[in-house]
Amino acid sequence: MIVTVTANPSTDRAIALPGPLVAGEVQRAESSREDAGGKGVNVARVVSAAGAPARAVVPVNEHDPYRLLLDDAGVDLEVVPVAGRVRANLTITDPRGETTKLNLPGAELSPAEARALSDGVVAAAEGATWLVLAGSLPPGVPDTFYADLITAVRARWGANAPRIAVDASGSALAAVVDSARPDLIKPNHEELAELIREDAADDDDVIAEAARRAAALVPQRVASALVTLGADGALLFAADGAWRGRAPKIQVASTVGAGDSSLAGYLLADLKGASAPDRLARSIAYGAAAATLPGTQAPTPADLPAGPIAVTVFSPSTATH
Ligand SMILES: Nc1ncnc2c1ncn2[C@@H]1O[C@H](COP(=O)(O)OP(=O)(O)OP(=O)(O)O)[C@@H](O)[C@H]1O
Ligand SMILES: [Mg+2]
Repeated sequence: MIVTVTANPSTDRAIALPGPLVAGEVQRAESSREDAGGKGVNVARVVSAAGAPARAVVPVNEHDPYRLLLDDAGVDLEVVPVAGRVRANLTITDPRGETTKLNLPGAELSPAEARALSDGVVAAAEGATWLVLAGSLPPGVPDTFYADLITAVRARWGANAPRIAVDASGSALAAVVDSARPDLIKPNHEELAELIREDAADDDDVIAEAARRAAALVPQRVASALVTLGADGALLFAADGAWRGRAPKIQVASTVGAGDSSLAGYLLADLKGASAPDRLARSIAYGAAAATLPGTQAPTPADLPAGPIAVTVFSPSTATH
């Protein structure tokens, strides 16, 4: 069982424009669709679609229309009742494959609601193989929320605690890495740089820079790191080695949720006992499949790219392309 947490859920509205987005203009959309979003929900949806057991823990108001979208998502839920309404995130795509995202702030969680969410996650984690903490934190909860949650889950379940994966950014991720030694993190290139207080903007060699940054974290502060690099594929760093996988050439429809699908693919492979290079290949295949689908539509095993994903052992000396 994979249990996911979505502290700051969103309704994802994907809007397809017939041409490039122009600021200040009135433009007509070609189509639009609405999905229950939030990274933990996305991960649970992809895991469920592959036939593996998943449950999503989500704080939601019972009268929120988001509940109906969640029901459509076909995900097993653990709802923690809260007063606020779920925010919307907008994704605007055009025929060139350009994606613009507008993420709205979520409703505030009161201290009592944050405690109820934490208690709900600790209870839901019983017997799980993986616990996935994914996405931003809502206003009202401290940056240490995920780090504290990891401590609480491990204190409650001890040797039976699930392994814990974190897909977050900024100070929420930094707090986890500072104090909670997660089993897996899934940063993209920018998130990894930010984690060690660097700016990725001027990187010449993305692969070499990612490897250098990961070496500062794995395995001392983080047991393993799956670093996704968009069209450049992904890198996996663990105590027993590092691997590089190349992304297949694909027709991109929307890269939203590609990272979430990558994480789901990695965990699905891990549930089957796959080796590190196979886990990396699965994660890249799922990320690529997500990028070929519109909106945050969850890829199923039938959507995976047909060919094999090239994975090689990675060492700093092979870092140049
Ligand atoms: N243009 C692309 N071509 C091929 N594969 C892609 C492309 N974009 C993404 N992918 C696949 O998806 C994976 C994850 O993408 P990316 O690194 O962009 O995630 P992310 O930045 O965490 O995304 P998000 O958080 O928005 O879901 C990549 O490792 C790759 O396998
Ligand atoms: Mg991401």
